[in-house]
Amino acid sequence: TPTNVLEQFRLDGKVVVVNGAADGIGLAVAQAMAEAGANVALWYNSNDAAIEKSQELASLHNVKSAAYKVDVSESTQVSSTMERVVEDFGKIDVFVANAGMAISKPILEQTLDEYQKQMSVNVDGIVYCAKYAGHVFQRQGFGNLIVTSSMSAHIVNVPVDQPVYNATKAFVTHFGKSLAREWRDFARVNIVSPGFFDTKMGAGPDCLNEAYRMSSLGRQGHVKEIKGLYLYLASDASSYMTGSDVLIDGGYVL
Ligand code: NAI
Repeated sequence: TPTNVLEQFRLDGKVVVVNGAADGIGLAVAQAMAEAGANVALWYNSNDAAIEKSQELASLHNVKSAAYKVDVSESTQVSSTMERVVEDFGKIDVFVANAGMAISKPILEQTLDEYQKQMSVNVDGIVYCAKYAGHVFQRQGFGNLIVTSSMSAHIVNVPVDQPVYNATKAFVTHFGKSLAREWRDFARVNIVSPGFFDTKMGAGPDCLNEAYRMSSLGRQGHVKEIKGLYLYLASDASSYMTGSDVLIDGGYVL
C-alpha cells in the first residue's frame, strides 16, 4: 500500500467487474473505477447501452473495457461469464455485485411470480456472483467483493411497501458479512447500503418526495455522490476494512 493517500485511491492495472452497469449506480461505479485507472468489465442484462458506455470509458480514460450480457439469476451464465472475464482480462481484482430490483407492493397484493422474481435477482443473483467471483479470488489468492445492499436492510422503509425487497437486502448484508469472515485469508468483502438515489429504481412516484424529505439532508442523493465510496472500498485506501456495512443515505437511518 503506497504511503501517499491519493496514490492509495488509484486502481491502475486493476480489473474491476461491475454488474447492473448499464445505468444507475452501477454505471456511476464503473465510471469511477475507470477514472481511477482500472480496466473495467461492465455486466448488463437488457440495456445494450452498456456496450457503448464501455467503449466510451475505454477511450476517455485509456483503459481496457468490455461489456458482457448476463442475467445474474442464471447460475450458468454467471459462472461462464466470470471465466470469460478472467480469460479476457487475466484476473479479477474487484467484483461489484450491484444488480438488483424491487417490486413496491404490499405482500397481500404481490403475486408469487413477483415474489420469486425479486428473490431470483436479489438473493440468487448475489449468491451466484459472489460464489463464482469467490472461486476466482481463492485461486488467485486475492480479491475484493463489494455488494450493494440498501438502507432497507436496516429499517422497514415506511413510505414505500417493499416487504420482499427489504428482506432480500437484509440477506445481502448478512451474506456479505459472512463472506468477509469465510474469505478472510484471501479477499475483502464490504457492503454499501444506499438510501434514495436518483436512478430508475429511486425515481418513483411523487409521494417519494416525502420520503426524500425525511432524510436529514432533505433530498435524494445523486449517483455522482456515491462514486467515491465504491472507489474507496475498491482501493488500497480501505485495506483494513472488511465486513463493514456503510450507509450512504443523507442521514435517513439515524
Ligand atoms: P437501476 O434500476 O437503475 O439499476 C439496477 C440494475 O440491475 C440495472 O442495470 C438492471 O439491468 C440490473 N438488473 C436487474 N435485474 C437483473 C438481472 N436479472 N441480471 C442482471 N442485471 C440485472 O437501479 P439502481 O438504483 O442503480 O440499483 C442498483 C442497486 O442499488 C440495486 O441493487 C438496488 O437495490 C440498490 N439500491 C438502490 C437505491 C436507490 O434509491 N436507487 C436505494 C438502495 C439500494
